[in-house]
Amino acid sequence: MNDDILLDVRHLTHVFPLSKKIAVKALDDLSFQIRRGEIFGLVGESGSGKSTAARCIMNLYRPAAGEIIYKGVNICDPAQFRTHRKMLQTTRQLIFQDSSSSLDQRMKVCDIVAEPLKIHRIRPARGSLRAEAEFQLRYVGLDAGFLDKYPSELSGGQRQRVAIARALSMEPELLVADEPIASLDVSIQAQIVNLFRHLQQEHGFSFLFIAHDLAMVEFLCDRVGVMYHGRLVEAAPAKELFSSPVHPYTQALLSAIPIPDPRLERARQIRQFTEDPENFQGVLTEVSPEHYVLMREGEHHG
Ligand SMILES: Nc1ncnc2c1ncn2[C@@H]1O[C@H](COP(=O)(O)OP(=O)(O)O)[C@@H](O)[C@H]1O
Ligand SMILES: [Mg+2]
Repeated sequence: MNDDILLDVRHLTHVFPLSKKIAVKALDDLSFQIRRGEIFGLVGESGSGKSTAARCIMNLYRPAAGEIIYKGVNICDPAQFRTHRKMLQTTRQLIFQDSSSSLDQRMKVCDIVAEPLKIHRIRPARGSLRAEAEFQLRYVGLDAGFLDKYPSELSGGQRQRVAIARALSMEPELLVADEPIASLDVSIQAQIVNLFRHLQQEHGFSFLFIAHDLAMVEFLCDRVGVMYHGRLVEAAPAKELFSSPVHPYTQALLSAIPIPDPRLERARQIRQFTEDPENFQGVLTEVSPEHYVLMREGEHHG
C-alpha cells in the first residue's frame, strides 16, 4: 500500500430504497483518494451524492458495494471496523453544514468542545478539560469569554468555530466537512475558509471539503473531484480543473461561477447540462498528469 494515501475510496455504491420497487442510487462506482496532508474538494450539484459519500466515509452508512480503505483498514468490513473502532472514532472528525442543529443546545461551549475528549477518556494535555477547551477555542479565534455561553447565544460563524474547535480537540488525521460554510453569511464564509486553511497548515490533517461554492474550493483545495449523479466525472489539481475543465458537466458547473468584473460577467454564458447520467459510462482516464476524466474508450471531450 502507498503510505502517502490516507483514504482510498474504491468503487463505492450506495442505494436508498424508497419503496419495494424503487430505489435511489446515491453513489455509483465512486472512487477517489486523499493523501496525507491534502485538502480534497468534492463538488457537484445538490443530490449528486456528496453527503452520502461523507457519511459512508464516517461509517454512518454502510455502502451497498465497494470499499473504503482508511489507514490501511477496510472500514466497510464490520470485523475490521470492530478491531479498529477506537482508532477510527478518534482520528476522523466530521463537521456538518448547520452547527445550530449539530451542537447540543443545552450544553455550554466549554463542554461541547471538551466532550469528545471526555467520551474517549483522553487525558487533557493542558491539565483540565476546561483549559483544553479554552486552548482549542483560542485556536479558532474565540476567547475565554465564550466558554460559558450556550450555542443559542452565538452567531452562525461563531457556532461553526465551536464545531471546528470540538473536532480539532481530537487532533484528527482526517477532517470531513460537509458544506461547512453553506449556511453562513457570505461575509463570514471567507473567514471560515481562511480559518480552515490556517488550521490545516498548522495541524497537517487531511481534509475532505465538500462544497457548493466553487470559488472557495479553488482557493482552498489542492485537488478537486466533481460528482454527477453519484459518480465522479472529473478529478484534477484545483488550478488545472478550474483552468482546463474537460468533462462537459464540469464545464457547465464552472460556467455558473459569477465573474467579479461586471463587463465579463454580462458576457458570461451559463452552459446548461442535462445529459442523462446513464449515458455516462466509461472509466476515469488520465488526460494529463493527475487529471482524470470519465470517458468511454476512444472518446474525446472537446
Ligand atoms: N436518507 C435518504 N433516504 C433516501 N434518499 C436519500 C437519502 N439521503 C440522500 N438521498 C438521495 O440520495 C441522493 C444523494 O443525496 P446526497 O448524498 O444528500 O447529495 P448531496 O449531498 O450531493 O446533495 C439524492 O438523490 C437524495 O435524494
Ligand atoms: Mg449534502
